[in-house]
Amino acid sequence: MTICYFTATGNSLYAARQIGGTLLSIPQLMRQETVQIEDDAVGIVCPCFNCEMPMMVREFMRKAHIRTGYFFFIYTYGSGLGEAYAYAKLAAREAGLNLSYVNAVLMVNNFIPFYDIQEQLDTLAEKKVEKQLQKIRDDISLRVTVYFKVTVTMKAQMNMYHKKVAEPWLRKDSALSYTVNNSCTRCGICAAVCPANNISVTAEGVRFSDHCEVCYACLHHCPRGAIHMKQEAGTKRFRNEHVSLYDITEANQ
Ligand SMILES: Cc1cc2nc3c(=O)[nH]c(=O)nc-3n(C[C@H](O)[C@H](O)[C@H](O)COP(=O)(O)O)c2cc1C
Ligand code: SF4
Ligand code: SF4
Repeated sequence: MTICYFTATGNSLYAARQIGGTLLSIPQLMRQETVQIEDDAVGIVCPCFNCEMPMMVREFMRKAHIRTGYFFFIYTYGSGLGEAYAYAKLAAREAGLNLSYVNAVLMVNNFIPFYDIQEQLDTLAEKKVEKQLQKIRDDISLRVTVYFKVTVTMKAQMNMYHKKVAEPWLRKDSALSYTVNNSCTRCGICAAVCPANNISVTAEGVRFSDHCEVCYACLHHCPRGAIHMKQEAGTKRFRNEHVSLYDITEANQ
């Protein structure tokens, strides 16, 4: 089994590890000229962004040549999925794959504009993450399949949501609108965790470029809490307790 994963704050990396198999980092695969993956089971594990998948994961699905008899898609998320399963099904179809299985793991919501991380951590036990992961592990090892229909009406609504809401919001909320306060020590960690190679740190300061994935890795892993957005529900930052800063830099560099 092979799992291709994308992670910013470690939830998806932890979930991928717990599900098992050979793990491949999507940001690293995206830097290769071509991507060929063949295995009896192949899956994607990534966060849900705006009820969809991260833009890089969508691009990865277009780029990769995946050959498998069992393709699955697992989201990690913090509150609600909207039509995320249907987006996974359509992306798989576009890539010539049949989506055999889809599921999601409710974890800490790292979406700083709306969610206070301390509150998220205080209520994490109620989400029973290990139980959710066990169910997914069992389903995948039994090669359970799920079927659901994406109707023409649903598809039209999803296209509209993508064009009018999800994508414009992600573009507007890119790192170009973040601020870095003067507690920054120019340590370079933000650049090291960025999956999109969108940050450069020099003696002059931190510079964001224009190809941000809006994953919030830089905001969450800055040891000084120096990076800020206009709207934040709290100042605490997050990294999954089972994942180290080293793991994130290894995954995203
Ligand atoms: C830009 C952005 C959008 C998000 N949108 C959603 C969403 O639509 N629904 C949801 O439940 N969680 C949403 N989240 C929360 C993440 O999906 C969740 O915290 C995920 O587990 C993070 O995974 P990671 O730690 O692997 O990066 C969003 C997070 C970010 C950064
Ligand atoms: S991680 Fe934080 S302290 Fe380090 S360079 Fe980036 S903004 Fe500055
Ligand atoms: S700049 Fe920050 S939010 Fe944008 S892709 Fe890089 S780490 Fe993620």
